[in-house]
Amino acid sequence: MDRKKITIVGAGHVGAHAALWAATKELGDIVLVDIVDGVPQGKALDLMEASPIEDFDARITGTTDYKDTEGSHLVIVTAGLPRKPGMSRSDLLAANTPIVRSIVEQAIKYSPEAIFIIVTNPLDAMAYVAKEVSGLPRERVIGMAGALDSARLRAFVAMELNCSVEDVHALVMGSHGDEMVPLADYTTVAGIPVTQLLPKERIDAIVERTRKAGGEIVSLLKTGSAYYAPSASVMEMAEAIIKDKKRIIPCSVYLQGEYGIEGIFLGVPVKLGKNGVEGIIEVRLTEEERKALNRSAESVRSLIEEVRLGEG
Ligand code: NAI
Ligand code: 2OP
Repeated sequence: MDRKKITIVGAGHVGAHAALWAATKELGDIVLVDIVDGVPQGKALDLMEASPIEDFDARITGTTDYKDTEGSHLVIVTAGLPRKPGMSRSDLLAANTPIVRSIVEQAIKYSPEAIFIIVTNPLDAMAYVAKEVSGLPRERVIGMAGALDSARLRAFVAMELNCSVEDVHALVMGSHGDEMVPLADYTTVAGIPVTQLLPKERIDAIVERTRKAGGEIVSLLKTGSAYYAPSASVMEMAEAIIKDKKRIIPCSVYLQGEYGIEGIFLGVPVKLGKNGVEGIIEVRLTEEERKALNRSAESVRSLIEEVRLGEG
């Protein structure tokens, strides 16, 4: 199999750790891009020097020049400002919109066949910007959020039950923000609904912690936001695409009528394979869950409106 070329834009906390996961999983050759000259080159070289110890074969290079990203199979956008305490993801809109726009404009020129995974916040709005700028079909512009939010829910359930994370599965839909929709009915432990294993008040507390999980890390770190679980989540998606695994992972995708929602990016369960989004699964929702999903959609819609107003 030919080695795939993976470009990661933003060699900060999320980008550099994503490169580390991708390298150790031998997903392909990695090009790290950043606007600060020296940083992507330095981190790439440092990672190359770790390869004989960890025994991975991946060529990792760093650059500030998009020409070096030519022919990428995947472009992962992690560049932009992270949150500081007291900031919401939406506060990042004005700062990160022009960053994502200029990155996608440059990257698509050299990799017109690439699949784009967007990580920069506010996630669902930045994925929309990437789709608008690239003009790519929805199958090839995917936002990372549900993988992370579901992993957090899985971790909290496993911590609560003192059981292996391997057996816990969960589904978090909606926007990547306080309006996300963690679904207790689709959270299972070895196939057993968590509703049979934990009392309602514990499930409610775990759901609430999941909604606020990004903020919990921000208030602990104080200087930025989470990066281990986010970078692992983006690589879970990248691996599904590169290995054509057909995994079902919640991702932010451009909806065209699914769940009765149209014209925005929102987190829903998606089949990921070599073509990117290969299917969108519509699960049965209760009336309350559907209302929560619609509220989530409205929060994304208003951010997208702000992006549009900024263009005008
Ligand atoms: P960071 O500050 O550690 O790294 C950001 C990097 O982007 C820096 O190295 C910076 O020089 C670079 N950068 C800025 N403008 C650029 C440009 N025009 N071109 C290329 N590189 C540029 O931040 P961190 O922690 O890596 O977070 C990055 C983004 O990812 C933030 O917006 C954060 O909110 C978001 N995020 C999203 C998550 C999700 O679930 N979707 C989870 C975690 C972070
Ligand atoms: C998180 O959820 C910052 O969005 C990022 O940790």
